[in-house]
Amino acid sequence: MAERPSSGASNGGTDLAERRLAERRAESDVPAVIQRVGVVGCGLMGSGIAEVCARAGLNVVVVEAGQEALAAGRRRVEASLAKAVDRGKLAPEGRADALELIAFSTRMADLADRELVVEAVVERFDVKAAVFEQLDAVTGPGTILASNTSSIPIMRLAMMTRRPEEVLGLHFFNPVPVMRLVELVTSLLTDDTTAVRATDFVEQVLHKRIVRSKDRAGFIVNALLIPYLLSAIRMMESGFATAADIDAGMVEGCAHPMGPLALSDLIGLDTVAAVAESLYDEFKEPLYAPPPLLDRMCEAGLLGRKVGRGFYDYNGRV
Ligand code: CAA
Repeated sequence: MAERPSSGASNGGTDLAERRLAERRAESDVPAVIQRVGVVGCGLMGSGIAEVCARAGLNVVVVEAGQEALAAGRRRVEASLAKAVDRGKLAPEGRADALELIAFSTRMADLADRELVVEAVVERFDVKAAVFEQLDAVTGPGTILASNTSSIPIMRLAMMTRRPEEVLGLHFFNPVPVMRLVELVTSLLTDDTTAVRATDFVEQVLHKRIVRSKDRAGFIVNALLIPYLLSAIRMMESGFATAADIDAGMVEGCAHPMGPLALSDLIGLDTVAAVAESLYDEFKEPLYAPPPLLDRMCEAGLLGRKVGRGFYDYNGRV
């Protein structure tokens, strides 16, 4: 089980929130544990989030905009579960059990009875804002509305609802079944009870490690990671070194599991560009501005592994 970070002097608010939560649980107006989860969006991140929730034994409803996207999302979950079985991380019967726990739907109304909904749609404010408006309409008080945004301030999404106190960021990392981290982001208006319920869920049910970030574009990880990825793209763009040598430099010289250009392909170049734009909008620092090569590759549809070609050619292996 993941260790809870030590309380420290500044955690008085959290301790108080935990006491309040215990009191409210005793009065039974807060469910003891989250068991019914919704996921909106079944792309790279949404499918991974749905998978880890189902593998934790939770009942999951996944909502996508259309049947085609839904079928692709289902195939992604199936492929990842098969890989987990191949690698000995999941018993063969665990695959069928997990799939049985996931319902796939195109109707937001099917999220009405969820205790937690995680939004994982494309990294665009207008699209996420519309999802939050709909989630506010179909779910009632007591349902935590979380965004898996990589970079958009949570406050902006929370203000699309009538209950910003129940909105927060839960930022997972790709590949979700493998990466242990979740960034937990509270806005100025997130209730302590919401934060404690979400923390318990991530740590005790999903067994992932939480780091807490203030509500600033990029949070902790992307504020550090994106300028690094953009520097690698600029290095390649300027002819300073080849993609293979830049990546080998970081893999062989710094023991990173993959180099920055291969990692950009894994994340998706459209996502890298969107996160860079959010960071640039917020801080106006030139190092956050997407380099022209990144924009051109996005315009060309060379988005990385998910389409088979980005900085590298995957020959259909995605
Ligand atoms: N379920 C459970 N475990 C799985 C799995 C699955 N579906 N698929 C793979 N695994 C396990 C494997 O069993 C293996 O575990 P062990 O090390 O215990 O043997 C491990 O995951 C690695 O798997 P593979 O052997 O298949 O793959 P690999 O060794 O080539 O590693 C990688 C692939 C995990 C992607 C690795 O290259 C890596 O860690 N890369 C960096 C990823 C990263 O930085 N992600 C963060 C991106 S940033 C982001 O997501 C946020 C954002 O907002 C942009």
